[in-house]
Amino acid sequence: NKRSRVVHNFMRERLSRNILKMLAQLGETAAELDCRAYVVGGFVRDLFLFRKNEDIDVVIEGDGIAFAKTFANAHGARTHTHEKFGTAVITFPDDFKIDVASARMEYYQFPASLPVVEMSSIKMDMFRRDFTINTLAIELNPDKFGRLLDFFSAQKDIKDKVLRVLHNLSFVEDPTRVFRALRFEQRFGFTIGKLTSSLIDNAVKMDFFKRVAGKRIYTELKLILKEEHPAPILLRLLDYDLLRIIHPLIKIENDLQRLLETAQKVTDWHDLLFIDESYERWAVYFMTLLCHCDLDATLEICNHLTIAPRYRKMFGETRIMMAEHLTRLERRKRMDNAQVYNLLKGLRTELILYMMICTTSDTAIKRISKYHTQLRHAAITLSGKDLLDMGLPPGPLFSRTLQAVLEAKLNGRVRNREEEIAFARQTIKKQGKKSR
Ligand code: CTP
Repeated sequence: NKRSRVVHNFMRERLSRNILKMLAQLGETAAELDCRAYVVGGFVRDLFLFRKNEDIDVVIEGDGIAFAKTFANAHGARTHTHEKFGTAVITFPDDFKIDVASARMEYYQFPASLPVVEMSSIKMDMFRRDFTINTLAIELNPDKFGRLLDFFSAQKDIKDKVLRVLHNLSFVEDPTRVFRALRFEQRFGFTIGKLTSSLIDNAVKMDFFKRVAGKRIYTELKLILKEEHPAPILLRLLDYDLLRIIHPLIKIENDLQRLLETAQKVTDWHDLLFIDESYERWAVYFMTLLCHCDLDATLEICNHLTIAPRYRKMFGETRIMMAEHLTRLERRKRMDNAQVYNLLKGLRTELILYMMICTTSDTAIKRISKYHTQLRHAAITLSGKDLLDMGLPPGPLFSRTLQAVLEAKLNGRVRNREEEIAFARQTIKKQGKKSR
């Protein structure tokens, strides 16, 4: 059969020992249960693209759930099953996961016009997928371990670097695949095939997205925003007029390209300097898309996409309040460190980076980056206990004094503990006079 080829050696060269062993064990369980197991999809695609991918997706010709349970039992793992879909997730004690699906006729509903009657169930399972490059399967049963099944010329498309759907109804079946197409195109540096591209145009023109829930659009958008380089994908969405599908209120001005490129630079700058600090980079990109939206528009977008309340606050209220602070950082001629600190303190990294992206003022950028690299770490040794020891009774003067010492430290007026104490004494004296 010219569609099959043995890729066992190829697997041995590229996969880690553990993964290879796991694949062999999956095949052994399949043989015991008298069914056939295949590793499929992104895992196989990435094997051929020389990209690391340890997300194992297994398709079983037969009962995937029974397979998952048997395999998990034999290897000290747990399973989580979805009877309705015939799928299961196997989870190992170290949290490594394997997805299992059942290739069975009754799980598929194809539009009546598609020629699927004669297909084997593994071929059917591949046929219902989004793009040809995701339709490779490798057999795992010991008798045929490492046999590659390529029903739809995936190897050729991978070699030619093209992304193609399997049939003309692919985007009718699932319009969110349009977003996946652009994500894969940019991630792999592929081009979208001519027919596939015109099917995308058609999906946009005919508004296939009308019936897609905001939540699903948000899921796809987040996958895009979480890619290593989201900016070029978002610009491609714009090419296809797809940003308005995310929400018509996302305002696209002609500065989008510059903003997105800046977002990439600013997040790269941050990631290089603060390698251990985690933050949600995707949220920075999302706010960049929202940068011309006012509060009402933002809240409407958040509602439609069913964005969780804690993000809603960051994307809406806080982001818009920050725009006012930003104007001050841009326009005020003189600002000392303490003033910058007081404007920005406590802000999440996502918002700090967002402000750096939004502004074109060098002054503001310098002030914000100084805050983020130095000022935010400012601390004093003086504590409430020290103030008690100085004879200050607890009260509002307490925090005011500590704040004054911190500001003095930020502005370079005190440098060490002695100076902090001296400064605190002075402040208390002054405040005492004022309140008399
Ligand atoms: N799939 C599909 N249509 C979708 C989503 C997924 O046909 N709307 C198929 C794809 O063919 C894919 C498989 O389901 O191979 C698993 O989906 P997912 O895990 O999202 O795909 P990967 O290709 O592994 O993507 P990634 O590399 O981003 O994890």
